[in-house]
Amino acid sequence: MDRFEIVGGARLTGRLTIKGSKNGALPMLCAALLTDQPFVLRDVPDLADIQNMHRLLGELGAHVDYTPTEGINSPGGVTKIRVFNPEASHARYEIVKTMRASISTLGPMLARRGSARVSLPGGCSIGERPVDLHLRGLAALGADLKLEGGDIVATAPRGAGGRPGRLKGGRVFLGGPFGSTVLGTANVMSAATLADGQTVIEMAACEPEIVDLANMLNQMGAKIRGAGSPRIIVDGVEELGGVDYRVLPDRIEAGTYFCAAAISNGDITLDNCPVDALMATIDHLERAGITITYETGKDLLRTTCRVSASRVLQPIEVTTQPHPGFPTDLQAQLMAMLTLADGNSVITERIFTERFLHVAELSRMGARLFRQGPTVIVSGVRTLKGAPVMASDLRASACLVLAGMAAEGRTTISRIYHLDRGYERMEERLRLLGATIERVSEKEPAGAMAGA
Ligand code: EPU
Repeated sequence: MDRFEIVGGARLTGRLTIKGSKNGALPMLCAALLTDQPFVLRDVPDLADIQNMHRLLGELGAHVDYTPTEGINSPGGVTKIRVFNPEASHARYEIVKTMRASISTLGPMLARRGSARVSLPGGCSIGERPVDLHLRGLAALGADLKLEGGDIVATAPRGAGGRPGRLKGGRVFLGGPFGSTVLGTANVMSAATLADGQTVIEMAACEPEIVDLANMLNQMGAKIRGAGSPRIIVDGVEELGGVDYRVLPDRIEAGTYFCAAAISNGDITLDNCPVDALMATIDHLERAGITITYETGKDLLRTTCRVSASRVLQPIEVTTQPHPGFPTDLQAQLMAMLTLADGNSVITERIFTERFLHVAELSRMGARLFRQGPTVIVSGVRTLKGAPVMASDLRASACLVLAGMAAEGRTTISRIYHLDRGYERMEERLRLLGATIERVSEKEPAGAMAGA
């Protein structure tokens, strides 16, 4: 298991290119199962979750060839996929337990092959994370779903003359107690592309990753309208072709570097930055006193953005919400930043109400945090103090890295395999901006937990 050693106090300056989106790429890679034609995805980040997804697609009958880009300051590598064996339709627990996004193979396999067997993901460190909405959505398209030995066994209604099963368009409502579901929307939307007739998804997730997936599927020949709004309409087609597509830049990586600039009183410039997907984040950071400017003449999903902070941060109130609200995936990083604000901030988590494992670790570094249910009061302090802390999930790890960079003295963060699932070579990229951070390899075996 590797750890990070950080010596705090450096002011971040310089320039970085944002990587392609992890959460965008994962369901897109699964959509390769919808075709037997060549499938090429560009700007794919080199991350543990992406490698796991490649491995899973290999087990599901696809040739997968990944070429990472050279150098740390590039948007990502290229994945080429070609399905050769549609019979291999079992996503095993051994892989699914390492990566919950494996559930996104269910809809594409079911739609294209008429059946699929995908291990039911368990809970993870950020909460219970059910998949009932995914299953309800696929059932509304006619799928028969059973649970056998911890696996979801799904079959589409048989076609005439014993032809492989085919889903049927239907009306699907994807609202749950915490709003819509991002991967559930991806699953149902992908499945509906090959269903007979029209599917209407109500209360669809509006996240930019869904819009990007819909754009890619449309380039493959799908007929999807309304992605980015709560109502998505999909007219099923007979088959989908291949595609060559560039993944959207990672809004959460960009937002994390925004917070890194802010907490270090830095001044950084981010290329390939999806500001159009970050409006709520930009609004909250501006309220905290951070200056964010960007080039408007370009595509606002791939522009150049400068983030600078030169004074004591102001406290703010923030509630996480589905897009276009403030994202849960930046809650922990924002909390790290607000530990040094001049007053009391209030953070309420409305998507994953237990996503607060970073609170106890930040407290070990001198942060003053008071949690009551889904709300944390962050009472700003003048300084954080370096300490040994433990990463517990992907975004909590990023939060501790930011805190360590601002703290006095040395911070040791153990279990950073969580971080490697979602941030490509973060220590090297932060060093490029002037941080004092090292990866130290230890010999113990890693035991990765499921997360994103
Ligand atoms: N939910 C249900 N039933 C379901 C599905 C979800 O009740 O069937 C609930 C969840 O428990 C949660 C809320 O609905 O309270 C939203 O969950 P969602 O399904 O949208 O989450 P997800 O699609 O599994 C993706 C990201 C997460 C991100 C969430 C929310 C990927 C691979 N993962 O997960 O990313 O936090 O959307 O935006 O896209 C991360 O990158 O660190 C990460 C955890």
